[in-house]
Amino acid sequence: MAAGVLDESSVRALGARAEAMINELAAISAEPNRLVRLFLTPEHRQAAELVTGWMRKANLQVLEDALGTLRGRTPTSAGRRLLIGSHIDSVIDAGKYDGPLGVIAGILAAEHFARTEQKLPFGIDVLAFGDEEGSRFPSAFSTSAAVAGAFDPAMLKFADSKGITFADALAAYRKNPADIAPLYQPGEALAYVEVHIEQGPVLEAENRPLGVVTGIVGQHRMRVTVSGQAGHAGTVPIKLRQDALVGAAEMVMAVETLARGHESDGMVATVGRIEAFPGAVNVIPGRVDFTVDLRSMTDALRRAAILRIETQARRIAIARKLKVDFETVHDAPTTACAPAVQDALADAITDLGLTPVRLPSGAGHDGQMMAKLCPIGMLFVRCRGGISHNPAEYASPQDMGYAIAALIRFIERFDPG
Ligand code: GLV
Ligand code: MN
Ligand code: MN
Repeated sequence: MAAGVLDESSVRALGARAEAMINELAAISAEPNRLVRLFLTPEHRQAAELVTGWMRKANLQVLEDALGTLRGRTPTSAGRRLLIGSHIDSVIDAGKYDGPLGVIAGILAAEHFARTEQKLPFGIDVLAFGDEEGSRFPSAFSTSAAVAGAFDPAMLKFADSKGITFADALAAYRKNPADIAPLYQPGEALAYVEVHIEQGPVLEAENRPLGVVTGIVGQHRMRVTVSGQAGHAGTVPIKLRQDALVGAAEMVMAVETLARGHESDGMVATVGRIEAFPGAVNVIPGRVDFTVDLRSMTDALRRAAILRIETQARRIAIARKLKVDFETVHDAPTTACAPAVQDALADAITDLGLTPVRLPSGAGHDGQMMAKLCPIGMLFVRCRGGISHNPAEYASPQDMGYAIAALIRFIERFDPG
């Protein structure tokens, strides 16, 4: 173990603190029996208040931007900042580690430097984003996009499942879209680093607690609307129907078939939500909305796959006398982690006496937006069974302690250039 590296008991203490804080945040949910913490909701506000309190205790000066992102800043005269962060929103029926771990790791690392009075030649900003998952509105990464100066105002028109628009939700959160602005001047952000559970099985299979992310998968999300003719379930003969649901079912199968054909490229496609209207047991569905989430590490393959899905869906629609429309709601390119940041994270892991594993991320992350601002890097933490977006998600306090110790080591060795 290299000099200056935290000892085992400090690592254990950090892991235990992280676990306690994760549990505290996980208690904030819209529902009593499952974790649901969506963007711009009262639960987002409550989580933001808890995180603000933690940031202040870690001697960070807190600012909340126009989309509710929290920025906890070390008090320093150094103009340039190392950004560390993750998100505090969740999927529906979430696990408790996805997002909170990265925010808490940043806070505990900042607190370490405040407590040890170690002087750094740069400042640290801890960021807590509120819209990474895209679980409320169809878009994702809106909060990191805003921080990076890449917010698309078209998002403000998106509506949630209750018909509340992004703009209305923002007003209810006491924010004004006119205030949306980048948080950094050019050159001010040195790098963005995120600690996150792996959400996959690689580290567990390799029996290694920590990994270094090489790049983040490109992601396309769209909404598909299939329109037919609603009618009486008892009187309209099968061959005369324009049933939007059976047309949509065929399209969903086509999405899976296409992804299966690209298994060797690592492409995946998911229809995560489907809704039939009017949604009555004795009425032929006249309209169906469904979502497609398609990911690939190769942007050209991803774009070609989307075009093929659209072509096949149109063919199915014509054969069934239906109409089909597509709306792209999210399009994030494949994003490389900066080689220098990868190497520095790997060195920090090695300094702890561990072996870093390099691996890509199949999950999307705010780093995809932050890469528009500065070099990015991610440190992955082993999670049990590779399970995520599921209440069974679990990372051990020991592994989380290692991750925070590696982050601290990375920060103290970070060369601002
Ligand atoms: C976010 O977690 C995503 O990859 O969907
Ligand atoms: Mn996440
Ligand atoms: Mn997630």
